[in-house]
Amino acid sequence: MINLKSKLPLVGDTIFSEMSTLAQQLNAINLGQGFPDYQPDTELLNAVCQAIQQGPNQYAPMIGVPALRQAIRDKTIAHQGHAYDPDADITVTSGATEALTSSILALVQAGDEVILIDPSYDLYAPVVTLAGGLTVRVAMNPPTADTPRFSLDWDAIAHAVTPKTRLLMLNFPHNPSGLTLREEDLDALEHIAAHHDFLILSDEAYEHIVFDGNPHVSPVSRPALASRCILVSSFAKTFHATGWKIGYCCAPSSISQEVRKVHQFTVYSVSTPMQTGIASYLKQTQAIHGLSAFYQRKRDRLVQGLKASRLQPLHSEGTFFLLVDTRALGQGPEKDLAIRLTREAGVATIPVSAFYADPAAPAANHQLLRLCFAKQDATLDDAIEKLANL
Ligand SMILES: Cc1ncc(COP(=O)(O)O)c(C=O)c1O
Repeated sequence: MINLKSKLPLVGDTIFSEMSTLAQQLNAINLGQGFPDYQPDTELLNAVCQAIQQGPNQYAPMIGVPALRQAIRDKTIAHQGHAYDPDADITVTSGATEALTSSILALVQAGDEVILIDPSYDLYAPVVTLAGGLTVRVAMNPPTADTPRFSLDWDAIAHAVTPKTRLLMLNFPHNPSGLTLREEDLDALEHIAAHHDFLILSDEAYEHIVFDGNPHVSPVSRPALASRCILVSSFAKTFHATGWKIGYCCAPSSISQEVRKVHQFTVYSVSTPMQTGIASYLKQTQAIHGLSAFYQRKRDRLVQGLKASRLQPLHSEGTFFLLVDTRALGQGPEKDLAIRLTREAGVATIPVSAFYADPAAPAANHQLLRLCFAKQDATLDDAIEKLANL
C-alpha cells in the first residue's frame, strides 16, 4: 500500500463539473459552467488554421511569440491605460489559469498571507495552499433589499492587511457576481496600498465584457498600483474559445522574471500557431469592441425572460453571469436548490455558496444561483421557458 499524503486533501471535483455531469445525466440545459455554446469568429478560426498550415509549428519562445506580446502591449495600453514592455513584462501562458497559478507559486512564500475576497474563483485558495501560503478571507457585503448587489467592503479589506500580507487577489469584472470596479474602489485600494507592502494579482479574465457603457476599471490604470500589480487575462472569454487555453500575465520586469521561472518549468511555452493566429487576428479586427454589446443583449434577454419566473435577477455589470435570487422558491442551501432546479426545471446553474471557503456555512448561502448567459439565444429562450414553468 503506497502511503500517499495529499497536498490538497480538501479538494474534490469542482461544483462546475458536478453540475455539468448532472445536467448531462438529466439532459438539462447547462447554464452552469461558463462557456459559450457557439463558435469563435470565422476570421479567427481562419487565422489560426493558416498559422497551422504555414507554421512555425515548433516550440514558441518561452515568454511567448513576439507578435502576440506586442499585440497584448497595444491592447493593454488602449484598454487598461498602462504600457508594458513586451520583452521584459509580458508572458503568454496556458490560459489565465496558468498565469494565476505560476504567479501565486512564484510570489507566495510559506507563511505568507493572501487576501481573497469572497465569493472568490475556486482556483485561488488551493494554489495558495500549494505555495504554502495562508488564505485570509474577506467577504463582500451580500445583496440586501436596499442594495440588491454584492459590494466591496474596503474597511474589512484594510483590516485584513497585516505585515505578513503578500498578495491581494482581485477579480473584476467579478465571477460570479458580475460586479465591476469603480474609480472610488481604486481610491480606497491606493490608500491601503500606500501604507503596506503587498502585491496585487488582478484577474481580469472578463475585461472586455462590461455593460451599460461603463469603462473597464483596472488597478493598473493607476501608476502607484501598476508597480505592484500582476495583470492576468485570457483570450478564452474574449474570443469565445475557452478550449484554447491562451492567456497572459503582465507585470513589472522584476516580478515577471520570477513568474517566468515557474512558467518555464510547468508549461515552458504555449501553442505556437494559436499565438500566431491570435496575434494576426488582433491586428486586423475590431471584434473585441463589440463584445460588451453582444453580451449585454444576452443579459437583457435573460433578465427580460426571467420576469415570467419566480427567480429575481440581480443586476449584472459585467462578465457573462447573472445572479438570481431564489427566495420565492423557499429557503435552503443553495446547492440543494441548484440540484432541484436541474431535476425539476431541467436547467443547471451554479450555487454562489461554492465560491466561499465553506459552501455549507450559513454565511455562504444567500439564496443565490449563478446563470451563464454565454449561450445561443435559442438556448436562453429554452431555459427561460423551463424556468418560467417552475
Ligand atoms: C475569474 C476567472 N479567472 C480565470 C479563469 C480561467 O481562465 P482560462 O480558461 O483562460 O484559464 C476563469 C474561467 O472561468 C475565471 O472565471
